[in-house]
Amino acid sequence: MDALELMQARKVYRQKNRVCVLTGAGVSSESGVPTFRGEDGLWRNYNPMELATFEAFKRDPLLVWEWYQWRRQLIRKCEPNPSHRAIFQMENDKEHFLLITQNVDGLHKRAGSSKVVEIHGNIWDVKCITCDHVFTMDHDFENLPPVCDDCGSFLRPNVVWFGETIPRESLEKSMDALSSCDLLIVAGTSGYVQPAASFAQIALRNRATVIEVNIEKTPNAALVDHFFVGKSGEILPSLIAEQ
Ligand code: OAD
Ligand code: ZN
Repeated sequence: MDALELMQARKVYRQKNRVCVLTGAGVSSESGVPTFRGEDGLWRNYNPMELATFEAFKRDPLLVWEWYQWRRQLIRKCEPNPSHRAIFQMENDKEHFLLITQNVDGLHKRAGSSKVVEIHGNIWDVKCITCDHVFTMDHDFENLPPVCDDCGSFLRPNVVWFGETIPRESLEKSMDALSSCDLLIVAGTSGYVQPAASFAQIALRNRATVIEVNIEKTPNAALVDHFFVGKSGEILPSLIAEQ
């Protein structure tokens, strides 16, 4: 890591008071949650079209649920890491703050974050496919697929699958923050999934400074103001550290 550039980025962080953060699976990888596209990423071993689309759910709800139950059990054992804690600290440091996460694991909230929009939903929430009721259910289901108490239809994980759109309220809140922030910090996302992949460009167009952290270069690397190659669990705490 370039120490001089880190000092510059620290100064930027101290000066800005309207801060927005965008996170992806990489920020949870140090907690033991697998990413999607990296080495050992979920999409290297599983086909998203068979597990993360509504068509797949209609075809084989049991298979989809077995996969989600496995992920829920895995995530349940994971704890927030220094990335999550640093981002929670940012919320406390800044007058205007919003965290936009693509992660469904809920680890940001467990680290304390409350100003957070989970644009891809939350793996602990389920939604009835008929009456649209959303419930938080964080226990294991004895019988899969689980059914709705109100109408008897199947419940699905309340996450955004491929081919589905982000709930309007989440998107509006994100867009408001991206167009009014003066600093966007992007961490642990590959930048291949829309619309989040465009968020850095939206912030740049609105004259925000953009800092990105990833263990490898991403498609945004050349566009952003400061790009740090390294683990978010190391770089984010040092970005906000008071020296
Ligand atoms: P990806 O798995 O596509 O990307 C994870 C990124 O994190 C990669 O760019 C890694 O290089 C980086 N990374 C891994 N470990 C890191 C660490 N310790 N510190 C910093 N960076 C690290 O995950 P996302 O970009 O979140 O959507 O994927 C976006 C969406 O695609 C997900 O929300 C999911 C997936 O399909 C749905 O399921 C709808
Ligand atoms: Zn129902």
